[in-house]
Amino acid sequence: MPDTRVLVVDDERSMRELLAIMLRQAGHDVTVADGGEAAIKALKSDTFDLVITDLRMREVDGLAVLRAAKEQSPQTVVLVITAFASTETAVEAMKLGAYDYLTKPFKVDEIKLTIANALERKRLQDENQALKRQLRRERGFENFLGKSPQMLDIFETIRKAADSVSTVLITGESGTGKELVARAIHEESPRRNGPFVSINCGAVPETLMESELFGHVKGAFTGAVANTVGLFSAAAGGTLFLDEVTEVPSSVQVKLLRAIQEREIRRVGDTRDIKVDVRLIAASNREVAKAVADGVLREDLFYRLNVIPIHLPPLRERREDIPLLVAHFVRRLSAELGRPVRSVTPEALAILETYRWPGNVRELENVIERALVLGSGDRLDAPGLPPDLRRPRDVQDVAVEIPEDGLDLEATLSQIEHRYIQTALARTGGVQTRAAELLRVSLRQIRYKLQKYTRLTRQG
Ligand SMILES: Nc1ncnc2c1ncn2[C@@H]1O[C@H](COP(=O)(O)OP(=O)(O)OP(=O)(O)O)[C@@H](O)[C@H]1O
Ligand SMILES: [Mg+2]
Repeated sequence: MPDTRVLVVDDERSMRELLAIMLRQAGHDVTVADGGEAAIKALKSDTFDLVITDLRMREVDGLAVLRAAKEQSPQTVVLVITAFASTETAVEAMKLGAYDYLTKPFKVDEIKLTIANALERKRLQDENQALKRQLRRERGFENFLGKSPQMLDIFETIRKAADSVSTVLITGESGTGKELVARAIHEESPRRNGPFVSINCGAVPETLMESELFGHVKGAFTGAVANTVGLFSAAAGGTLFLDEVTEVPSSVQVKLLRAIQEREIRRVGDTRDIKVDVRLIAASNREVAKAVADGVLREDLFYRLNVIPIHLPPLRERREDIPLLVAHFVRRLSAELGRPVRSVTPEALAILETYRWPGNVRELENVIERALVLGSGDRLDAPGLPPDLRRPRDVQDVAVEIPEDGLDLEATLSQIEHRYIQTALARTGGVQTRAAELLRVSLRQIRYKLQKYTRLTRQG
């Protein structure tokens, strides 16, 4: 293990030096301490992979060094060295988490082997931890799936955001999973046992918005027949999710800003301020910057909301998530609908992977549900999918530009064709049969086109 940092602790100089020389020869980065006190000081300012300490030392002993090392980082491997007479303390040291002990006098080979084993164990431990972290990262959240780099990043941000109380602003087209993000943050946060309260700001009449959010006192306005607490108070100790936040009327936006800044609200018709402990998450499927530019959303409120921005890319920009989502929805919905569908045909999957999904994941979910309800048999196949999906992609989607001096149509089309093939091959990991399915051509056609293109580029 290169760059291994070792701390050697012994109040006996010859021993210290012997160990230090040996370890340096083995290529390790060695720090020496001439006693327990110096060792504990070193442990406070530095981290070590391995600590080798004598047990019996004047003043501060090896057990104290062991404790300090484990306290500082439980991953640190500690080896204790003991005189033959004090094996009892050595056993005590093992109980406290020492990796092993060596009794003096020992042979150089013996200690070399023990150190090598200790470091190997440390390496495995670290590797194991890294794998666990990776697994956690890749697993996403229960019912919130994704393996595209964009989604993995989002999962990471969610975990980080969950630990703070900062406001999160989630943006993304309709059906991309904004509400799922909000719920995941709440579930991962220390507030998970508190309430998660959600309000669609676009669905509340303008005149009722303020009272809905902050509550009102009896008689505050016509129809206010009793005191109400409002959603801020209802979400106390938990999370308040403001969906479609650009729809909050401007008169209420000022009050919202104040609630975020001061962590205080005032009920409609009340004269007192009430402290509230609420974590705010806002979402919008509009372009929020544009809403600010258009004067729909106050700029100061935008900055207060946008402390942690999370943008969900549309499904068509992360197509590698599609097979995962399809499998998930098929599994869940076939159980719910009592229609055991065991597989999705490659042809159907190819169609699902190519479609533009303007309604994103929600649309995908609906398409699967429809296919399960209307279909029969234990496979989801291409004819079971809505005709819209099977229509070739709208040519309007492809940008067509002709340079000033014109172009060679044949060569251009051939280049475009080649790019589609390359993209398909990239997505299928180079598997030509799958790429052919994706592009709805035969395997022979793909092979022929690839050859043709290679020939063309060689000539040209
Ligand atoms: N990554 C995902 N994994 C599993 N299910 C998902 C994922 N993304 C979205 N969904 C599902 O898709 C549907 C739409 O998600 P959600 O309601 O969170 O979208 P939204 O962005 O809030 O949409 P809108 O802007 O229309 O409110 C939900 O049923 C949700 O469970
Ligand atoms: Mg939503």
